Amino acid sequence: MGIQIRSLLFMFLILILTVPVRAQRTTTETSTTKFTFRGFTGKQSEIITTGVAMIKPDGLLRLTDLNSNVTGTSFYHKPVRLLETSGNSKNATVRSFSTSFVFVIIPSSSSNGGFGFTFTLSPTPNRPGAESAQYLGFLSEKNDGNSTNHVFAVEFDTVQGFKDGADRIGNHIGLNFNSLTSDVQEPVVYYDNDYPDRKEDFPLHSGDPIRAFLDYDGPTQTLNFTVYPASLKSKPIKPLISRLSVPKLSRIVQEEMYVGFTAATGRDQSSAHYIMGWSFASGGDRPIAEPLELSELPRPPPNTAKKRGYNFQVLALILALSGVTLILLALLFFFVIYKKRLQQGEILEDWEINHPHRLKYKDLYAATDGFKENRIVGTGGFGTVFRGNINSSSDTIAVKKITPNSMQGVREFVAEIESLGRLRHKNLVNLQGWCKHKNDLLLIYDYIPNGSLDSLLYSRPRQSGAVLSWNTRFQIAKGIASGLLYLHEEWEQIVVHRDVKPSNVLIDDDMNPRLGDFGLARLYERGSLSHTTVVVGTIGYMAPELARNGKSSSASDVFAFGVLLLEIVSGRRPTDSGTFFLADWVMDLHAKGEILGAVDPRLGSGYDGGEAKLALTVGLLCCHQRPTSRPSMRMVLRYMNGDDDVPEVDDSDWGCSNSSRSEFGSKFEGYVSSDKASSSAASFSVTRISSNSVLSGR
Ligand SMILES: *[C@@H]1O[C@H](CO)[C@@H](O)[C@H](O)[C@H]1NC(C)=O
Ligand SMILES: *[C@@H]1O[C@H](CO)[C@@H](O)[C@H](O)[C@H]1NC(C)=O
Ligand SMILES: *[C@@H]1O[C@H](CO)[C@@H](O)[C@H](O)[C@H]1NC(C)=O
Ligand SMILES: *[C@@H]1O[C@H](CO)[C@@H](O)[C@H](O)[C@H]1NC(C)=O
Repeated sequence: MGIQIRSLLFMFLILILTVPVRAQRTTTETSTTKFTFRGFTGKQSEIITTGVAMIKPDGLLRLTDLNSNVTGTSFYHKPVRLLETSGNSKNATVRSFSTSFVFVIIPSSSSNGGFGFTFTLSPTPNRPGAESAQYLGFLSEKNDGNSTNHVFAVEFDTVQGFKDGADRIGNHIGLNFNSLTSDVQEPVVYYDNDYPDRKEDFPLHSGDPIRAFLDYDGPTQTLNFTVYPASLKSKPIKPLISRLSVPKLSRIVQEEMYVGFTAATGRDQSSAHYIMGWSFASGGDRPIAEPLELSELPRPPPNTAKKRGYNFQVLALILALSGVTLILLALLFFFVIYKKRLQQGEILEDWEINHPHRLKYKDLYAATDGFKENRIVGTGGFGTVFRGNINSSSDTIAVKKITPNSMQGVREFVAEIESLGRLRHKNLVNLQGWCKHKNDLLLIYDYIPNGSLDSLLYSRPRQSGAVLSWNTRFQIAKGIASGLLYLHEEWEQIVVHRDVKPSNVLIDDDMNPRLGDFGLARLYERGSLSHTTVVVGTIGYMAPELARNGKSSSASDVFAFGVLLLEIVSGRRPTDSGTFFLADWVMDLHAKGEILGAVDPRLGSGYDGGEAKLALTVGLLCCHQRPTSRPSMRMVLRYMNGDDDVPEVDDSDWGCSNSSRSEFGSKFEGYVSSDKASSSAASFSVTRISSNSVLSGR
């Protein structure tokens, strides 16, 4: 019994002695460590760095930069109590802990990263003597594998087979106990949550953020490790490494351990190693490191890995190609703009720039109310004439809108515009300028208010009953002759009008005739098919030689003037459906000595017989079949002014018969003008003879 009492007493004593001690221990041992770094800005005091490791201003913890042969370590400044000792100090267990971090490895080039980094449990907040390259700033050649090291690390190795030959692969995870030789080694993969058996591998040194989780459960001695790209939505359920019973850890871990990272670069292989965020928890039943949301972490360092991934030639090629593409795009862009501007008529082609008098389409558009129908003052063969007002309504212009059949014709015409635009005569319609818009040529003339001679001779008398008086007719005839003389002889170069007819003679306020559209026929001389020549003119006014050689000359203008003169006197159109020819009719009357019978009956006796005879005779002279036998415009004017006597018309030599005339007329094919100019401006008409028909007529 005494023994029992003594042992009871002893036990009681032990209880008394140990309880306070145990209580004290429990308080310290249950003290947990918990920290979370979402970026490291301002945490210099809590992170102990050595080597090249540093906290960057943007909050990233950089373990190493890209320099070769460097090391860097970063440890949490306080030691963590990781060992749980029971009464028997030899029977210690490692307490549960949990850590999570997001890291980025940016290699100097995709094929040349190195060497890697570790998450380390170390007895010291640094790794004295640790070496670079394969030692990862963790151990050195001297202490590698020494059991006195008391270090544990998860290594993130990006360099293949440096030390251990074939069993070591690049891009792997290893669990290291006191040694760089990994006890457990796994390639870097994660298990897909949807297909748990499928391993997805990925590179550590991709330059993209990667998450790592390390959980250790003390009671079961289970170590779980998971790593996966941070771009993945959820954490893989199945860990990459899950080890039941890791007794080695308890032999390594000392009562207080520092937790942190080490990293190193090699001589030739280097990567920059960054930690974006880090959380840690230890102690308690089931410590869980706080989650790290990417959005709460500092921005990852610029991922130069992908760009560096290409070698120089590929990079140069890509740059060159993208450069070429850019240039092409720019060219396309400017081409589109240019075409658009060109269509708006605001960009000049080379040949256009050299010619003055060019007006802006925009202005013409505004002047004619957008070429409104109520602005049309005349419609001729190929052109429509609009009345326009520039600036103030007092400044009136006539805009002739022509759609030529060939651009070549336009160029030739525009080439002449410079000189045509300088023609100034009281009997010419002043050409003010021109403009090309899309396929249209716009010619700007003085606006002549009284309409054309054609309408005065034919349309208006029928409407109003007022007949053009003889004096006016004679003055108009002389005016036209004067204008033609100016074109033929008084200008610095010979200008052939090519389309003299009543509708091209405008009458101004003073009943003064003004020839319009001079030279314009040039526009149509070239056919749309290059092998055809097109003879331009109006049936009835075309000299017979035009059907043979197609060449306009001042003599062919004289012929047309002759017809026009007969027309003015007689008030009859030059031809009707091929059976009546004015010149032949007048010639017949002349031969019968009854030439005055040709005078317009509407004049009654209100005309000067001498002048009428003179005009009709001159008209017949001008209509001579042979171009060389026709008088020049200078002579015509002298005759009409009475400066010279008019020669006799020799009807035997005049050389024109009804049969030849009708034959000539039948050779024409194609377009015949309708000449419906309603009022002021000249209409324009064209008769075409294709070269084929001329040939067959021979
Ligand atoms: C690496 O650096 C250490 C000093 O930090 C130096 O002793 C060693 O020779 C260097 N190694 C190489 C391969 O440059
Ligand atoms: C103490 O250690 C021994 C052997 O190392 C083991 O059998 C025993 O279960 C341990 N006791 C506790 C409480 O962990
Ligand atoms: C291990 O390290 C200790 C202390 O640094 C040293 O005394 C011992 O010689 C080392 N053992 C080996 C095998 O290198
Ligand atoms: C480790 O992983 C296993 C299997 O996924 C799981 O059952 C266990 O709870 C994990 N342990 C810890 C400490 O996370």
